[in-house]
Amino acid sequence: MGLKKIQTAVFISGTGSNLKNLIKFSRIKKSPINIKLVVSNNLKSKGLNYAKRSKIKYKVFKFQKNNISEKKALLYLNNNRIRLICLAGFMKILSKNFIKKFKGKIINIHPSLLPKYKGLNTHERAIKNGEKFSGCTVHYVSSKLDSGKIIKKKRVKILKKDTPNSLKKRILREEHILYPKAVKKVCANL
Ligand code: GRF
Repeated sequence: MGLKKIQTAVFISGTGSNLKNLIKFSRIKKSPINIKLVVSNNLKSKGLNYAKRSKIKYKVFKFQKNNISEKKALLYLNNNRIRLICLAGFMKILSKNFIKKFKGKIINIHPSLLPKYKGLNTHERAIKNGEKFSGCTVHYVSSKLDSGKIIKKKRVKILKKDTPNSLKKRILREEHILYPKAVKKVCANL
């Protein structure tokens, strides 16, 4: 692991397929990042197994509203010299203070073509509205949910036979291609 690599933390809450994919990407010689930490709000996140398997340090913080656990998380990130945070299915909303402390250094992947379908149940809503396309977006995290500056987007066609689940699977495959590309772009400007 080259010393010049950008020390990165990935935040998850669930399955962690994007985490798994980012770990794979980080181990390519030319990758600009080293995933130093995995952070979760949920000890039961399946994704933590990828951290264990890959021998990456991981830690659970509750991220409750009182901000105490968030402060502990901030300290932990700083102690580990983290310079980039990739949210990957992280279901907690970070406070304004936290975002300010990592200004321009937190990015997220969202399963829709932002600014359309912010929030949850994106696939179901896109299908119900008769959209012809959906997709995924990587964006900077700002204090307004799913509204920060867009880094990269990928369009995915919605098929007539699509269910929210089949669409989700197809979009996830594109997420796994898009997220590393977006990370490269962000790192070039860090
Ligand atoms: C992805 O669809 C991502 O866009 C959204 O949450 C999901 C996480 O999936 N923010 P995984 O945990 O990476 O498999």
